[in-house]
Amino acid sequence: MKFFVDTADLAEIEEIAATGLLDGVTTNPSLILKSGRPMVDVIRDITAVVPGPVSAEVTATKADKMIEEGRFLAAIASNVTVKLPLTWDGLRACKVLTGEGFLVNVTLCFSANQALLAAKAGATFISPFIGRLDDLGLDGMKLIDDIRTIYDNYDELETEILAASIRTVNHVQQAALAGADVSTVPPAILKKLAEHPLTDKGLEQFLSDWAKTGQSIL
Ligand code: G3P
Repeated sequence: MKFFVDTADLAEIEEIAATGLLDGVTTNPSLILKSGRPMVDVIRDITAVVPGPVSAEVTATKADKMIEEGRFLAAIASNVTVKLPLTWDGLRACKVLTGEGFLVNVTLCFSANQALLAAKAGATFISPFIGRLDDLGLDGMKLIDDIRTIYDNYDELETEILAASIRTVNHVQQAALAGADVSTVPPAILKKLAEHPLTDKGLEQFLSDWAKTGQSIL
């Protein structure tokens, strides 16, 4: 599974990228707002740090303008992935932009039929929002399962499932079990993935016993 980080905060991205475990980045207008910086600067800086796909979202709602914005964003760097909303206009823009060879992430997906349409429109990634479905008392992970089944039923559908709106470490595990190709994870959750109290406890014990040996490896 590929790991993307879901943030527009450059310092956090640099810290996580330094692990060598980061495959890409997703941003959205809310995350750009949070960064407090101009979008183009943010995207340019992120693409200079992360060689993998970096999603930058259009804000137009009509296909023609989406296509124009998409071409503009894609010109920032070759790894920019144009993020388009899952609307009829977004699907139309997706078909055109992927036809021109651009990477496209179709976002705000809440149903398997939407995901099927995005794949038919040639999307590079589909972003089902797990957490926002769970917020409504629905089962976000079931959506990942259903999309996996549908995509696996048809060889011609090559869109990657990008599990988004991840809120917990369990979401990451469940998305991996369900066969999502990518999880985009907020930095705080990503850091928690390596944590376990028994790891801390065990390490403490080993180090304390090691100190008693009086030895040093180097
Ligand atoms: O990038 C989109 C997505 O991950 C949003 O997450 O937590 O705002 O639902 P959230």
